[in-house]
Amino acid sequence: GRVRELIDRLGENKHLDKAEWVEVLSGFTDEDREYAASLAREISLAHYGNKIFIRGIVEFSNICKNDCLYCGIRRSNQNAQRYRLTAEEICECCDEGYELGFRTFVLQSGEDKSYSTEMLCGIVSKLKEKHPDCAVTLSLGELEYEDYKALREAGADRYLLRHETANKAHYEKLHPAEMSWEHRMKCLEQLKELGYQTGAGIMVGSPYQTVECIAEDMLFFEKFKPEMIGIGPFLPHKDTPFKDEPKGSYELTLFLLSLCRILLPRVLLPATTALGTIHPLGREEGVKAGANVIMPNLSPTAVRKKYMLYDNKICTGDESAQCRGCLEQRMKSIGYEVAVTRGDFK
Ligand code: 5AD
Ligand code: FES
Repeated sequence: GRVRELIDRLGENKHLDKAEWVEVLSGFTDEDREYAASLAREISLAHYGNKIFIRGIVEFSNICKNDCLYCGIRRSNQNAQRYRLTAEEICECCDEGYELGFRTFVLQSGEDKSYSTEMLCGIVSKLKEKHPDCAVTLSLGELEYEDYKALREAGADRYLLRHETANKAHYEKLHPAEMSWEHRMKCLEQLKELGYQTGAGIMVGSPYQTVECIAEDMLFFEKFKPEMIGIGPFLPHKDTPFKDEPKGSYELTLFLLSLCRILLPRVLLPATTALGTIHPLGREEGVKAGANVIMPNLSPTAVRKKYMLYDNKICTGDESAQCRGCLEQRMKSIGYEVAVTRGDFK
């Protein structure tokens, strides 16, 4: 059919225009999705083999000055129990992660201005000094150019900042007026310019998202060429204005992972925690659809339940202290292996 023809064109490295993306995204069947997944999986096998890269995430503060309408740690959420880890606690989590075979540490937080750039640079340079064979990824939201620059000079290798949506009007329905789509896009440009391996991304099925929005996201990925793409389903959080909004589609999320792999063959593409939350085998299916990264939690179990961006997040209970072993098993069950390496963009 027509969708399959367009998937093939994408696989031949050809450009799809917005109307063609809309056709793909609105007209696909389960067979088209399976077709895209097998093509995507072939591509990731060709570039990365059956190896899955793991990244240990340390969610070091859930304090945030922003008020994104979808997010459980938005500043207006009075029910969130706020916490901050110290520099020492952050480094301890990474040291434990190193012993478990992690060679990338992702330091993520809300936009918490109590951590100075100087302090963050100290953490980054300390980690790089102690573990010179590791990559450090930051996910701290929107900062000033000078801060991104200082952190890069301190040794940070990568930065995750989802653009959330390439459509400005849509962005404005997801965020309060004090936040701007232009500023977010400017941050992404600056990160690229500073030499970070840069990650963009979206939530699938966020409120007010249309297929046209997703078509624009695909065109944005094609143009910006992020080294990493984070895509997970939107999941409502009970203490946000979007609490009654429907969750995003599991199948569409898997299809988009495949399309991203076909569009950008070497992209580092996680099977996200949100994908593992919406379906018990979401991460396995994500890998089978073309993902090649998994990002388990390295935060102390005592704080994990407090970093709730959406309801029912997996890996927050005591039984999840050891996500590393769990993932090893899960990947093995589908014929993949966890790699003990930085897992850089090729
Ligand atoms: N559902 C799914 N993903 C979410 N994020 C934030 N809130 C939610 C939610 N309710 C995603 C955003 C953000 C990333 C850290 O988590 O895309 O960039
Ligand atoms: Fe965390 Fe399975 S990956 S418990």
